Amino acid sequence: MATGLEGRSVVVTGAGSGIGRATALAFAAEGARVLVADLNTDGAQAVVKEIEEAGGTAVAVTGDLSEQSVVDEVANTAVERFGGIDVLVNNAGIMDRMSALADVTDAEWERVIRVNLTAPFLLTRAVLPHMLAAGKGAIVSTASEAGLRGSAAGAAYTASKHGIVGLTKNLAVMYRGKGIRANAIAPGGTKTAIVVDADRAAHGPAALGPHFVNVGRLAEAEEQAAAIVFLASDAASNINGVVLPVDDGWSA
Ligand code: NAI
Repeated sequence: MATGLEGRSVVVTGAGSGIGRATALAFAAEGARVLVADLNTDGAQAVVKEIEEAGGTAVAVTGDLSEQSVVDEVANTAVERFGGIDVLVNNAGIMDRMSALADVTDAEWERVIRVNLTAPFLLTRAVLPHMLAAGKGAIVSTASEAGLRGSAAGAAYTASKHGIVGLTKNLAVMYRGKGIRANAIAPGGTKTAIVVDADRAAHGPAALGPHFVNVGRLAEAEEQAAAIVFLASDAASNINGVVLPVDDGWSA
């Protein structure tokens, strides 16, 4: 199966750890050049080093992707270093507390929406002119099981992930025929810092609410990365506007 990713310019956000890290490594293994974007400088630089040591090409841009200046730096760096942007992976994300909506503070709501939904909007808006000029591009965003149905994983988180699904479908409808595709994955529980650190994981899936009981096997980050790489690749050339669950049948 030809992925066509050799030499492509790929931006992966949240690439300093977890699913984003695995995705950056998977694109590099396909011969793509990877911009590793993350708030966490040490994590991002470690991933760049890992890619370079394996003979690949990567560059890090660190900062808060919910800020326009950091988004501009990401787009400008990819264009300067790699000559364009072929693939954008909107993956960086955070979770709020698992409080009921009545207890959600303004600050919590605004932060989660800003990082999980506004940052992908800003990034997508920044890369689209380059994709349109090239007449090609693929955008893949990391939604969630919480983007497919009601979830106890926080009100802002659930709303933001449904928002990612909407953004993806809007892009697919608006930019089809221009060589640009937009898709998303909806991971089920995956072994990364976002779940392992949280006290929710310490209490087991049942503590996450009724939807988490039949969660199935926790995924490896590499299993999410494989789906992202497929959706970005030429192998998925007629797939546009889908949200692909990667969840061991949890959402079935
Ligand atoms: P993670 O915590 O290992 O990785 C998230 C990365 O995003 C971190 O490196 C973090 O520094 C970065 N990040 C957070 N806020 C940022 C900001 N403002 N600017 C730049 N970078 C920022 O967690 P994981 O699991 O790899 O998360 C990746 C995506 O997968 C997230 O969007 C998450 O919501 C989604 N997801 C994860 C699931 C899981 O079970 N692990 C399930 C469903 C969705």
